[in-house]
Amino acid sequence: MKLVITPGFALQGELRLAGDKSLSHRAAVLAALAEGESRIENFLLAGVTGDMLRALAALGVAWRLEDSTLVVEGRGLGGFSPPGQSIDCGNSATTLRLLAGAVAASGVPAVLDGSPGLRRRPMGRIVAPLQAMGVEITAQEGRAPLILPPAPKPLRAISHTLEVASAQVKSCLLLAGLAADGPVHLYEPALSRDHTERMLKAMGVEVVSEAVVHGEGLAYHTCLTPPGERPLLPLQLELPGDISAAAFPLVAALITPGSHVVIKHVLLNPTRTGLLDVLQAMGADLRVVVQGQAGGEPWGDIEARSSRLHGVEVAGELVVRMIDEFPAFAVAAAFAQGRTVVRQARELRYKESDRIAALCTELRCLGASVAETPDGFILDGRGYLDGGQVDSHGDHRLAMALAVAGVAARGAVGVCGGEIVAESFPDFSAVMQQLGAHVETEEGC
Ligand code: S3P
Repeated sequence: MKLVITPGFALQGELRLAGDKSLSHRAAVLAALAEGESRIENFLLAGVTGDMLRALAALGVAWRLEDSTLVVEGRGLGGFSPPGQSIDCGNSATTLRLLAGAVAASGVPAVLDGSPGLRRRPMGRIVAPLQAMGVEITAQEGRAPLILPPAPKPLRAISHTLEVASAQVKSCLLLAGLAADGPVHLYEPALSRDHTERMLKAMGVEVVSEAVVHGEGLAYHTCLTPPGERPLLPLQLELPGDISAAAFPLVAALITPGSHVVIKHVLLNPTRTGLLDVLQAMGADLRVVVQGQAGGEPWGDIEARSSRLHGVEVAGELVVRMIDEFPAFAVAAAFAQGRTVVRQARELRYKESDRIAALCTELRCLGASVAETPDGFILDGRGYLDGGQVDSHGDHRLAMALAVAGVAARGAVGVCGGEIVAESFPDFSAVMQQLGAHVETEEGC
């Protein structure tokens, strides 16, 4: 399917978005490990969260949807049933990595697999520490399928240093750590999204995070104390909107003259707001107001008006705080004036596509002047992009970012493989249309 976006329409309006993807994944799997019924309002119903729900059903977890409220009957920490066959995690690395930890904690055997795209993603980063915890997990040259035989009870407590800041790896090990024989200590070079920690605390588990001196420099230390016989409390939560989905209409509003968009009730956890800080540093007219907290997570409203943007440098911790937002950010940088440099972002090569290579290739198709570097890119913004035909590379965020470029480009943009947006933001076209953008779908490419 091709998404075709015709420029020339300003974006106006106020909206609310479906629940954050990372929170939806965690709420589903943690509710399954709790004892009692959890109710999660504004759950994100999308491709990747569907993968998580089907996987939980295969592990014997009963759940149902009442509109967008997910109701889960918690099975308790040791309560999964062995699945009859290999579990298909689709394209969802979050499902696979979080489930590996949860399955290890429950002790049941399972095989975790996924799409050809998921089979390319690195899994050695969870396999080695899970093995150190006593789980005899195996992978195929560091990739899925992952085979987990029945794990011993309890698991061994570990102290583990993550080479790359990764919330999926951290969360996998925290979930496994729930069944460990002592406190689990994790050190990461920068603080990745900390939703698992916040949600576990809301469920009564002791988790402490702090910046510490570790090895050669600073690290973020997370320590989880296993609850032992104490059950995890069920969740009663309304999830705030997905800030990574919000990035697309926000950038579209900033680069399209005459636009004014307000997004209400969005997740504003500081480990996720790096894009907002960078856009403000580029001169964006963005207002961000925290309005409240739910389940330990701050949420609020974001208001964006069309703005003159200029180039910026992004490196270090900021990369981690906006790891999923580089496709949207690169489009903003192309519409800015001047040079943008992204460094220390090699991790982008291991996402749903090699986002450094794919972004540079596709933005060049729209006339951008951009050069790939091993760990980032250098983009000379000229204040505009041309129309043209581009490809999603099977990557939902690349597809949406390129579609956003079409809202303000000098001609229509056609995004081949546009159906992939449904993996995380099935309402993308509807939301953009509601704001006034002109989005159509066509068959084939
Ligand atoms: C996620 C963590 C990030 C992010 C992904 C969702 C999560 O991945 O890119 O979209 O929900 O924990 P890494 O942990 O691999 O950086």
